[in-house]
Amino acid sequence: MSLIIIKIGGSVITEKDKAPLFNRNLMEKIAEEISKVEDKLLLVHGAGSFGHPIAKKYSIHEGYRSEKQLMGVAELKQSMSSLTLMITETLIKHRIPVVPFLSSSCMVAEGSRLVHVNTEPFRLMINLGLVPICSGDVIADLKWGFSIISGDQIAVYLATSLNAKMVIFGCDVDGVFDSDPKKNPEAKLIKTITPSTLKYYENSLGGSAAVDVTKGMLGKMKESLSFVSHGGEVVIANLKRPENIMEILHGRDVPCTRFIPEIIPTPK
Ligand code: IPE
Repeated sequence: MSLIIIKIGGSVITEKDKAPLFNRNLMEKIAEEISKVEDKLLLVHGAGSFGHPIAKKYSIHEGYRSEKQLMGVAELKQSMSSLTLMITETLIKHRIPVVPFLSSSCMVAEGSRLVHVNTEPFRLMINLGLVPICSGDVIADLKWGFSIISGDQIAVYLATSLNAKMVIFGCDVDGVFDSDPKKNPEAKLIKTITPSTLKYYENSLGGSAAVDVTKGMLGKMKESLSFVSHGGEVVIANLKRPENIMEILHGRDVPCTRFIPEIIPTPK
């Protein structure tokens, strides 16, 4: 049975521009869809308004600068734990055997890139049929003291080390557009991207307009490059329409962006 990793973006389950607000109704619907997945599963969630504003206020994403940031780290951890708790309550209600993992306890970064991850407990729990869940987090950093590691980076790192088949990045737009769909009504959805076509979109990728100390759409694509180059598949889809999860897994043609290994042209 193959492993699917779903990243539930902060923009989906929280109101990203406002004070921390959990979108419980939508999370209920997402949980209902996730409960139908038959593959092995690992979940990662983002921060939205439970993380980015605090990270920005204390410049946590810039690494350790002064003692003043330490209470900010504690505040951020507390806020993220409260979000994880609300998400897991919803998942358990839908009978998903979810096990929270604290990213800061099993990961170390260097210059804001993950360098050590204890993947063994993830692998063993997944093999039992449990569903680990972790989040973007403040991680000890060998160079910076600490850094913010996005759920995107974590999802792709774990996908590579645990040999996942697919990563689904759930966000609040249909996928990657040629300009910001929240500002430009003419923005066009890019349905397929391959490692060699990614460079054409580098200046125009749109999608994440709110306060975001990690890197929005382009970040997701760059993060995924090596996983996709080695045969993995990444799908960016709108989780405000939770049915997308099952439809994507069943191979249906829903509006989304598929980041896939190179398309080999078929001879005429
Ligand atoms: C950010 O994680 C983590 C913190 C700010 C603590 P993400 O970058 O994955 O969060 P979203 O999905 O963009 O909100």
